[in-house]
Amino acid sequence: MTAGRKQSGPTSKGLKRNLKKFARVLRLKPLYQEERASVFKDRWAAIASCLDGSDASFIDIGCNMGHFTAAAARHGLFAIGVDPMEEAISRARRLHRKVRGCGFVFLDVNLETVRLIPTVDVMLCLSVHHYWNRAHGEDGAWRIIGELAQRSRKLFFEPASSHGRYGADVPPFRENDEESIAAYVRNGFARVAPGRKVSHVKTTSSINTESFRSMFLISSP
Ligand SMILES: C[S@@+](CC[C@H](N)C(=O)[O-])C[C@H]1O[C@@H](n2cnc3c(N)ncnc32)[C@H](O)[C@@H]1O
Repeated sequence: MTAGRKQSGPTSKGLKRNLKKFARVLRLKPLYQEERASVFKDRWAAIASCLDGSDASFIDIGCNMGHFTAAAARHGLFAIGVDPMEEAISRARRLHRKVRGCGFVFLDVNLETVRLIPTVDVMLCLSVHHYWNRAHGEDGAWRIIGELAQRSRKLFFEPASSHGRYGADVPPFRENDEESIAAYVRNGFARVAPGRKVSHVKTTSSINTESFRSMFLISSP
C-alpha cells in the first residue's frame, strides 16, 4: 500500500460505491462526460482527423454516456459502446436511441471478458486504464490493453495523469508530466503490442486534480 494513502476495507469500499451510484441515479453526481464536456469537441475532432474511408467498425470501451460512440455512428461507422456502469449505459441508450448504427453493451471488460470483444477497425480506450490498474494491478491492466490492441487496427488510448487515480500498484511515470507519461505509454505498448506505432494525438484539459490528459493512437506502421 502506498504511504500516505488512506486504507479502506471492503465494507467501506462497497458503501462508497453504493453512495456514488445512488448520487448518480439522482443526478446529484454528474457522469464523467458531463464533467469533461467542455473538451469533448476537441477530443472527438482529434480522433476524427485520424479516421479514413477504410474505417467501418468501432468499439468504445468505457463509453460512459456514449458521446464518442454516437459521434462515431454519425460519422458513418457501425459503433458499439461498452460500459459496466448501469446508470451510464441506460443514459447512453436513452440519449442516443435515434442515432443509426449505434448500440450499447453492459459489460465489465476484464481479464476474462476481454476475449469476447470482437476485432474492429477503430477502438477507443479513453481514461479506463486506471480502473484496470485498480482492479488488476499494472500487469493485469496492460494484459487487457494488449488484448484490445490485438483486436483493433487503430486504438486510441488516454491514461490518467495523476497517481491518485490509480491503485496501490502506481504506474512508473512522473505524475502530471506529459513527456514522462508519453514514455510510459510507448514502453507499455512496446511490451504488449510490439511493432505497433504509438503517436501522440492530442492533449486536452482535465478535471479534479489533473490539469491534462494526453491521447495516443496505436496503429500499424
Ligand atoms: C473516466 S470515464 C471515461 C469515459 C470516456 N471513455 C471518456 O473518456 O470520455 C471511465 C469509464 O470507464 C468505465 N469503466 C470502468 N471500468 C471498466 C471496465 N472494467 N470495462 C469497461 N469500462 C469500464 C466507467 O464506468 C466509466 O464510464
